[in-house]
Amino acid sequence: MNPVKIGNLSIAVPVIQGGMGVGISLSGLASAVANEGGVGVISSAGLGLLYRNFSKDYLAASIYGLKEEIRKAREKTLGVIGVNIMVAMTNFADMIKTSISEKADIIFAGAGLPLDLPSFLRKDSITKLIPIISSARAARIICEKWKSNYNYLPDAFVVEGPMAGGHLGFRTEQIDDDDYSLEKLVPEIVNELRVFEEKNHRRIPLFAAGGIYTGGDIKKIMQLGAAGVQMGTRFVTTSECDASEDFKQAYINAEKNDIEIIKSPVGMPGRAIFSNFIQKVKEGKKQPLKCPFKCIKTCDISSSPYCIITALINALKGNFENGFAFAGSNAFRATKIISVRETFKSLLREYKESQ
Ligand SMILES: Cc1cc2nc3c(=O)[nH]c(=O)nc-3n(C[C@H](O)[C@H](O)[C@H](O)COP(=O)(O)O)c2cc1C
Repeated sequence: MNPVKIGNLSIAVPVIQGGMGVGISLSGLASAVANEGGVGVISSAGLGLLYRNFSKDYLAASIYGLKEEIRKAREKTLGVIGVNIMVAMTNFADMIKTSISEKADIIFAGAGLPLDLPSFLRKDSITKLIPIISSARAARIICEKWKSNYNYLPDAFVVEGPMAGGHLGFRTEQIDDDDYSLEKLVPEIVNELRVFEEKNHRRIPLFAAGGIYTGGDIKKIMQLGAAGVQMGTRFVTTSECDASEDFKQAYINAEKNDIEIIKSPVGMPGRAIFSNFIQKVKEGKKQPLKCPFKCIKTCDISSSPYCIITALINALKGNFENGFAFAGSNAFRATKIISVRETFKSLLREYKESQ
């Protein structure tokens, strides 16, 4: 695998570890990935709950938590550390400002179009900006708006296809439609980006995500034009992943048909491992009583079947009676928990051995 440049950052192994909330990718996993030459990513989702001992105020605790996680990651690595921030979160602006002032190397912004993201940069900012998108149209809109409003182009893009874990930027009926497959999206987006690259005399690398599990998968998608990949699921079953052992075990125990598409209160479909909680939601037995955190802009308490942040925090701790684990379509393939170092070795070996 060839190194990739993102602005002035050199990524030795072009593998980004996808940000995973709530609490699945924090400084532990992110620093381990960065130490192997990839990009380690801290998820900013739900930090206000994970750090509620610091403050009962969700927003204040989120800012404190993000600073702490960036600081802890820096203590453990000199490698490249990013932060994943969802546009749909109510604390989006706070999380962006904190990441920039704490000098995170990269911000990954998805779950909505981050149209005003460059407005947060200051003259001396070093943070690179990478939108996460699901279509060539989104790539074009972001490039046009950023260029005309801020004279700035994205430092790279991540395209997340329909086989990814977590929330998906597709309608349910598009998920199994070949027209929306990652293999179709990558060349479309590469073509779209070429126009902006030629006009502006610079590269805009594209990283492909969603269902990439082996070094062979990496090679195939790079042959279609991706400069690298973003992977989530494969990093969950590592010793350094910040989730509980029970969460990781849910992946090891999962069979292929346990992984299903759910309807999230956020208003997007998501991919998760079936749990008793999901069954109870299907039977209409769950109803949120209150919305304590107001974490997501698009979540409406009156029509939500459950509180997503509470469900994800429960899952993080291994409580699947009251939560569920988000997971990519390949989550059933893990058989044991190994280190991030072994994971990278195995990805590189698989890459070399594949055609
Ligand atoms: C447990 C889990 C949590 C995730 N949480 C987030 C998140 O908070 N924000 C986000 O942009 N993507 C999230 N994702 C998506 C990942 O960052 C990544 O793009 C995706 O998992 C790639 O597909 P893969 O799991 O098949 O490798 C999550 C994925 C998983 C498996």
